[in-house]
Amino acid sequence: MARVEFKPGNMLYPVPAVMVSCMRPGEKPNIITVAWAGTVCSDPAMVSISVRPNRYSHAILMETKEFVINLTTEALCRATDFCGVRSGRDIDKYKEMHLTPSVSKKIAAPGIAESPVNIECKVTKVEHLGTHDMFLAEVVAVTVDEAYLNESGRFELNQAKLVTYSHGEYFALGKKLGKFGYSVDKRMHHTEKSMENHHPTDETTAKKESSRHSKAKAQAKRKQNHKRSTKNLKKKSKK
Ligand SMILES: Cc1cc2nc3c(=O)[nH]c(=O)nc-3n(C[C@H](O)[C@H](O)[C@H](O)COP(=O)(O)O)c2cc1C
Repeated sequence: MARVEFKPGNMLYPVPAVMVSCMRPGEKPNIITVAWAGTVCSDPAMVSISVRPNRYSHAILMETKEFVINLTTEALCRATDFCGVRSGRDIDKYKEMHLTPSVSKKIAAPGIAESPVNIECKVTKVEHLGTHDMFLAEVVAVTVDEAYLNESGRFELNQAKLVTYSHGEYFALGKKLGKFGYSVDKRMHHTEKSMENHHPTDETTAKKESSRHSKAKAQAKRKQNHKRSTKNLKKKSKK
């Protein structure tokens, strides 16, 4: 198949589009939308954001050396775009977008209360790369919206309707295709494998598939239980 060569550029997609909040002491807090953001180290937990020097937020970041990364959701999508096309020089983005500054645990800059995850960061290094300055930062605290904790206290982040950004457009996350390590998981049920090669075309089909899948799983479990109880009965009758 023929391939078309593009001039080298940024084509690593999808990426998160996050709302980064920052604040100079005594001033109004500000939010800048950042797509050039990433996780760069697990331990210590570190992230990076790249910001152009002409952004209003850039000077704040340089001065305070701290910021909060706020994950964005479908409900926050419009605000995410707005904070990426308007400057804090001219307006108060929290006010304009009816967002609530939340008090951070370890830094002075507030988070965004409406965001499911606030990641508080302290800048450790600034790299002047070219068009953008990269702020390398250590994660010093993380707070999550308790609405996404299930009965057993597990954080259900994927229920938060997170948003992703790809080639100039925002998207809701699609259907789940598997989980970490599923490609080599031997315990994976046969039906899960068959689902992998079968792509439902719409939401209704996906729901039907999912319910069929759950039924198959339940049936398999019933069979297993039946086998186990028959075995136990046989053991007992031997005694
Ligand atoms: C989806 C999206 C992603 C963006 N990503 C970045 C980025 O990674 N770095 C950056 O400097 N600007 C980025 N911008 C542009 C800034 O968010 C924008 O210039 C904003 O108005 C700056 O706000 P401020 O002047 O209040 O700091 C992005 C904008 C959008 C809409």
